[in-house]
Amino acid sequence: MITVSSLTLELGERVILENLEFQLEPGRTLVVMGKNGSGKSVLLKTIAGLITGYAGTVDTGNAKIAYVFQKGGLFDSIDVFRNVAFPLRNSGLAENKIEEIVTGSLESVGLKNAGAKYPSELSGGMQKRVGLARALVQDAQVILYDDPTAGLDPILSDAIADLMNDIRARTGAASIVATHDLKVARKVADCVMLLYTGRPVFYGSADEFFSKSDSFARQFIEGDIDGPIDVYKL
Ligand SMILES: Nc1ncnc2c1ncn2[C@@H]1O[C@H](COP(=O)(O)OP(=O)(O)OP(=O)(O)O)[C@@H](O)[C@H]1O
Ligand SMILES: [Mg+2]
Repeated sequence: MITVSSLTLELGERVILENLEFQLEPGRTLVVMGKNGSGKSVLLKTIAGLITGYAGTVDTGNAKIAYVFQKGGLFDSIDVFRNVAFPLRNSGLAENKIEEIVTGSLESVGLKNAGAKYPSELSGGMQKRVGLARALVQDAQVILYDDPTAGLDPILSDAIADLMNDIRARTGAASIVATHDLKVARKVADCVMLLYTGRPVFYGSADEFFSKSDSFARQFIEGDIDGPIDVYKL
C-alpha cells in the first residue's frame, strides 16, 4: 500500500506539489494527469525517492519500486539485452535464468529480436519499449510509469495499455501512471488525479473523471482553452 499524506514540495522557491493526499492499494492503478509542467514527473520521482526535501509523508512500505522513465533512461553504451538485464545484475540469479527473463520481457513488448541493438539504433518508440521491458524484469510491487506511451503510435499505445493491465493482473503491483493519453488512461485507470498549479483539482474514480461532470476534468478531456484551467498558468 502506498500512502501519501500532506505532501508539499518546493523546488527553486516555487511550490510544485501542494498538499497531495492519496492511498493506493496493491493491484490498483492511479493515473495522474495535468498539463505540461503540472508536476506529474516530479510526483513520480518523489514517490521513487529520487527527490527529497518535501513536507508530509510518502510511505511505500519498503516495496520494490520499478520506474519507467519519461525519456527512456537507457544506457547508450550497452546493447538492449544488457540494458534490460541491468536490474538483475547482482541479484544472484544464474545467467541462463537472467537470459530467460530478459528474453521473455523483450518479447512481451514486441522486441524479441532487438537484444543485440544499441539504443541509438532504435526509434524513439522502441527505446520507450525497452525502458518498459527493463521495468518488467524487476518483479516490483510498485510500478511508476512516466508517460509510457508518449511518442508511440495509437496502435502501439493501445498494446502498451493492454500490457500494463496484464502486468497488473499477473503481479498484483500497484501502478501510478503519468500520462496525457486519454485512451490509455481510460483503459488502465481505477482512479484519476488531475494536477493544476500543484494541487489535485480532481481526484476520484476513473468513471467519475470520464463522465466529465467535473469542470476541470471536462476541460482537460475536451482539450478546451475555455474553462477553469488557465493554459499559461504554472
Ligand atoms: N529539479 C528541479 N528543480 C526546479 N524545478 C523543477 C525541477 N524539476 C522539475 N521542476 C519544475 O517542476 C514543474 C513540474 O515539472 P514536471 O516535470 O513534474 O512536469 P510534468 O507534469 O511531468 O510535465 P510534462 O507533461 O511536460 O512531462 C515544472 O515547472 C518544472 O520546471
Ligand atoms: Mg513529465
